[in-house]
Amino acid sequence: MRILRQAMDKHNSNRQAWNEAANFYRKGLKESLEFLKGGGVSLCTQEIKFLSGLDKWCQTAVHFQCAAGTDTLSLINLGAKEVIGVDISEAMIGLARKKSERLGMKARWINSDILSLGNDLDMIADLVYTGQGAINWIMDIQAWAKLIFRTLKPGGRFLIFEGHPVTYFFDTAASELKFDPEFEGYFSRKIYESQGWTPAYVGDLEVSANQQSVKYERAWPISDIINALLDAGLTLKRFEEYPDAYWKEFPNLEETDRMKFPNTFCILMTR
Ligand SMILES: C[S@@+](CC[C@H](N)C(=O)[O-])C[C@H]1O[C@@H](n2cnc3c(N)ncnc32)[C@H](O)[C@@H]1O
Repeated sequence: MRILRQAMDKHNSNRQAWNEAANFYRKGLKESLEFLKGGGVSLCTQEIKFLSGLDKWCQTAVHFQCAAGTDTLSLINLGAKEVIGVDISEAMIGLARKKSERLGMKARWINSDILSLGNDLDMIADLVYTGQGAINWIMDIQAWAKLIFRTLKPGGRFLIFEGHPVTYFFDTAASELKFDPEFEGYFSRKIYESQGWTPAYVGDLEVSANQQSVKYERAWPISDIINALLDAGLTLKRFEEYPDAYWKEFPNLEETDRMKFPNTFCILMTR
């Protein structure tokens, strides 16, 4: 797939940042193994709703940006016969592989930038799943949407449950609703550059932020996401927005304030 050199360079820097963040995920390995072994499902209720009867319609699920694989393997606990997880971070893929091997779960792991995948996964998936902090790392939304289309079998389903771009409006550290001074507007399509992780997510990596790899993120407007998927050939079945969050992005905000704006959204499409 042809994507811009600049996009590849930013993805590569993100790869290094995620390899660093994998140290945090490594600490949770034992707990994840026990959770999955007990039949646990780490997905949120909003997305599980769209995955009912997975045992009847899903032979193969592909999870793009699978991180350390807990959400991917949860799809098996929900009924998928086999899963394929793709992630740019070799450290994350290493952790995911450890989990499926120790648990004897049917999984294949691919360490790759999703936009650099060849044609191996074309028309392989009954379900393509992604989200929970995934699309913001992708610099080329058209290439992303085309990849999803070609990975699905005809009749296959695409599900994304993702952080809402409106969350980028607000200062994540503030104790009242306050614009983030770095936010340049919903339609700016700015690429945000940062170093270090918020303690509410990755915690202390024992390396100062300015020694960590630079990360690049984009707050894609919802219309950019939906239109890229429609242009790629998919059919929209459902679009929902929720006040609920999947992580504590605004640890100091009162719940009543946080729930005044959409925190997450789901899109369900079919090929
Ligand atoms: C927040 S995680 C995804 C959510 C996941 N469910 C979890 O357990 O946290 C984001 C993942 O996207 C991966 N990633 C970022 N850019 C990528 C790219 N271009 N191709 C493949 N994976 C990518 C990162 O390595 C990271 O593991």
